[in-house]
Amino acid sequence: MDPNTLKQIAAQLRKPEGEMAAQVGEKMNEGNRLLNLRTIGRLSVSSGDHILEIGMGNGSFVPVILSVAPTVRYTGCDYSPEMVGQALARNQVAVENGRARFLVGDAGSLPFPESHFDKVLTVNTIYFWEQPEAVLAGLYRVLKPGGTLLIGLRPKASMQHYPFVSYGFRLYDAGEVTRLLPAAGFRVLSTEEEQEPDQEIGGQPVRVDGLVAVAQKPG
Ligand SMILES: C[S@@+](CC[C@H](N)C(=O)[O-])C[C@H]1O[C@@H](n2cnc3c(N)ncnc32)[C@H](O)[C@@H]1O
Repeated sequence: MDPNTLKQIAAQLRKPEGEMAAQVGEKMNEGNRLLNLRTIGRLSVSSGDHILEIGMGNGSFVPVILSVAPTVRYTGCDYSPEMVGQALARNQVAVENGRARFLVGDAGSLPFPESHFDKVLTVNTIYFWEQPEAVLAGLYRVLKPGGTLLIGLRPKASMQHYPFVSYGFRLYDAGEVTRLLPAAGFRVLSTEEEQEPDQEIGGQPVRVDGLVAVAQKPG
């Protein structure tokens, strides 16, 4: 693939825009399905929880979160207006019932009050945070004391096989993620890395892992 195409793919994954956005959203759902489901599984959603997700893309996994109990509420925040539009359309009934809402907003300046959410998750967005310390400080601020943060990502060893990562992705291994968290006040509870079925990159099967880091705002 030529550098311009790779740059375009990287830019769309960072912030899906324009005519390509809907297709990019579908592709992300396909490639990231297992990691999203695993992260949601580790979230241990309980009745009455108010969950915040940063960078939910087209919101295709929101029903999994809401299905836990009728009292669970969900807020999705993504800085791509196209993704917010798609997420709203896909989750229209939950939005009408007041169980889900979707906002255009940047992880670096979250438009929420302090100690507002029980749990926060974000999957495949950390690579794009220009100031990860500031984003984590914001997530800490909006979490209730005792609340948990889950970060799902593909570790560096998996991501480096994708040729588009040279264009603006910041890659992390488990140690690098866990070193960032205490600086923002979080207590790291676990990091769990799990192998997924190989994905095909450039015609070759490549080993792909998913990493889920779990941290807590002390109560
Ligand atoms: C690679 S996609 C991942 C989507 C989905 N979470 C998944 O795992 O398939 C990254 C998503 O995060 C959003 N995003 C990236 N950086 C963001 C930021 N700083 N603030 C809000 N949303 C962001 C993008 O617009 C995009 O929808």
